[in-house]
Amino acid sequence: MKFFVDTADVGDIRELAATGLLDGVTTNPSLIAKSGRDFIEVISEICEIVPGPVSAEVAAMEADAMIVEGRKLAAIADNVAVKLPLTMDGLKACRTISEDGTSVNVTLCFSPAQALLAAKAGADYISPFVGRLDDIGQNGMHLIDDIRTIYDNYPDLGGTQILVASIRSPAHVVEAAKLGADVCTIPPSVIKQLVQHPLTDKGLDGFMKDWAKTGQSI
Ligand code: G3P
Repeated sequence: MKFFVDTADVGDIRELAATGLLDGVTTNPSLIAKSGRDFIEVISEICEIVPGPVSAEVAAMEADAMIVEGRKLAAIADNVAVKLPLTMDGLKACRTISEDGTSVNVTLCFSPAQALLAAKAGADYISPFVGRLDDIGQNGMHLIDDIRTIYDNYPDLGGTQILVASIRSPAHVVEAAKLGADVCTIPPSVIKQLVQHPLTDKGLDGFMKDWAKTGQSI
């Protein structure tokens, strides 16, 4: 499973890219607003740091305008993936931008039917938002399970990758992996939580104390 980071914070992206664990980046208009930076400038900078796909989302609501914006975003760097909303206009723009040879990430997916449509429209990635479904008392992981089943039933759909988004915890990442999701896009804080276990810390502390007693060095 690939790991993307869900942020527009270049400092966090640099730090995580240095670990070698990062396969890509996703942003959205809220994350760009949080960064306080110019959209085009920040996407360009991220694309230089991370060679994998960097999702940049259009702001237009109508297909023709989405296509214009999507092509502008795609021109920033070869690794830009244009992010489009799961609306009829978004799907229409998805078909055109995919046919340009640009990677498309269809976002704001909350149902298996929507995921099926995105695959038929030629999306490279579908972004189901698990955390926001959990927030309203539904089970986001059931959506991932349903999409996996549907996509596996129809290999000729084109290989749309399931990019699990709106991740809130390490448990979401583990569940997504168990269900065979292709990608998780994870906030930096949750990526850091993934490595932590109290028994690892306790075990390492014990090993280091015993090592010191040996008086040796490597
Ligand atoms: O980038 C899309 C998604 O990951 C947003 O997550 O936490 O705003 O629901 P969240």
